[in-house]
Amino acid sequence: MADAEVRIVTRENGPLLVTGPVTLVDHLGNRYDLGGKDSIALCRCGESNRKPFCDGSHKNCGFVAGQTAPTP
Ligand code: FES
Repeated sequence: MADAEVRIVTRENGPLLVTGPVTLVDHLGNRYDLGGKDSIALCRCGESNRKPFCDGSHKNCGFVAGQTAPTP
């Protein structure tokens, strides 16, 4: 992976793992403090108490997501 590349990985039954130099803003345009992390996990189950970040709640809510990218 190149230094400036952003990579988003769908975790099976879990969050979107975002790695790389990203800026995350809310619907008002305010930036989230990512604390200098080079990787963040974004909730896609809707159950996190720390949205938009994953807090592990997907493990207890029955969230199922195992889709894979279509093969060419
Ligand atoms: S994906 Fe982890 S709490 Fe929603």
